Amino acid sequence: MAVHLACRGYQVTGTETNESKTELIRRGKSPFFESQLERDLKKALAMGTLRVCSTRETSPLDSVITFIIVGTPSLRDGSVDLTYLKKAVKNCAKRLAEKEDYSLVVVRSTVPPGTTEDVVKPIIEQYSRKKAGTAFGLAMSPEFLREGSAMHDVAHPDRILIGEYDRRSGDLLEEFNRKVYGSNTPIIRMRIASAELAKYASNAFLATKVSFINQVANLCERIKRIDVVEVARGIGLDPRIGERFLDAGAGWGGSCLPKDTKALVTFSRKLGYRFKLVEVAILVNKLQSRRVVEMAEEELGSLYEKGIAVLGLSFKPNTDDIREATSVRIIRQLLNKKAKLKVYDPLAMENVRALFGRRITYAHTVHDCLKESECCLVLTEWDEFKRLKTEDFITSMKKPIVIDARRIFDPRRFSKKVRLRSIGLEKYREEMA
Ligand code: UGA
Repeated sequence: MAVHLACRGYQVTGTETNESKTELIRRGKSPFFESQLERDLKKALAMGTLRVCSTRETSPLDSVITFIIVGTPSLRDGSVDLTYLKKAVKNCAKRLAEKEDYSLVVVRSTVPPGTTEDVVKPIIEQYSRKKAGTAFGLAMSPEFLREGSAMHDVAHPDRILIGEYDRRSGDLLEEFNRKVYGSNTPIIRMRIASAELAKYASNAFLATKVSFINQVANLCERIKRIDVVEVARGIGLDPRIGERFLDAGAGWGGSCLPKDTKALVTFSRKLGYRFKLVEVAILVNKLQSRRVVEMAEEELGSLYEKGIAVLGLSFKPNTDDIREATSVRIIRQLLNKKAKLKVYDPLAMENVRALFGRRITYAHTVHDCLKESECCLVLTEWDEFKRLKTEDFITSMKKPIVIDARRIFDPRRFSKKVRLRSIGLEKYREEMA
């Protein structure tokens, strides 16, 4: 967001606690992979609109709006760790104490309902010695960026939610967003806690939608002449359902859906309410990764000492992120079964190496990964894998058995030459081929 605004000509100051990250960013390097981020970061630095401060330095006092965008990771019990948020808010409040003009604080971090008013507001009031609604404004506006397409999403939001403490705060944030996004982007103003919950409900709904189609897929596997891809297309064109997020696969992962579903379940429980639908969506997701391993076992019998190639490690394409990735869950299960694993991913190799060390083999290319293996699991739908042909598997593998857990290969063409198992398709595809 900071980079996007700076590229649009707004004067932005970003504050970062980690000194080495601050240095990297100043040199135009992104501390994590995100498509087009580094290009735009360099542009913003060259334009002179982006200033990067470490928390030791003092940020300028002339900003009108301060966005709090720190991470809110999961604690062990699934609830939300607000440590970083509290620290950032305290720093911001200390600067507010020195300011004379009115300014607006906007929480962008994903936080449980009540946090902005019950945690953020008291900290700001204590350390700035000012009152919300008079000397400063307060709002909560959740982010809906997807990893891998964050720069696109930040430029083209499908909606902007403004949870406002008071009218003045809402007016100022709406005016700012109108300037940035024009008149076509829907802006919805609401109470602060509604905006906070909308973020969790949005991610939980998406996760539930994927778990739903994964269960439809599992049902399809028990029925002859049926395909979950066709079923998904058949239901998705109903605008009440929608086509997106109906790709059956190995399950959902990443730093957001798993964290936010857990947080919603834990938050509800603390209020004495069981959010059973989301609890089950989480359970179904765990079982889905086991389904992929089961498919390998159905083909190979015991996996003991079997050579298995894993193509795709990041939790989705166009990122190197493996947090809560299905691949990690599947690799753990395969290692428990003493399979011999060779893995390949276009971006995430180093992250996986840091996690599994010498317990698995790291291939340099797809072909190196497939070489001599007895079964190949495709766990992420990278474009590089979509271009693979049956010959690639036949020539490299000991036995060309492919488990397509992301439905990237056309079963009609593929299953004639290799033994293909696809999520959401009945086991014996030969009848359809
Ligand atoms: C998610 C939300 O989509 C964003 O709207 C939200 O802003 C973000 O979390 C966040 O809270 O910051 P992201 O974590 O980047 O974004 O990933 P998604 O694109 O939602 O994918 C999540 C997982 O679901 C991936 O593992 C993906 O493979 C899986 N998925 C997605 C499916 O298995 N099938 C689908 O049809 C769609």
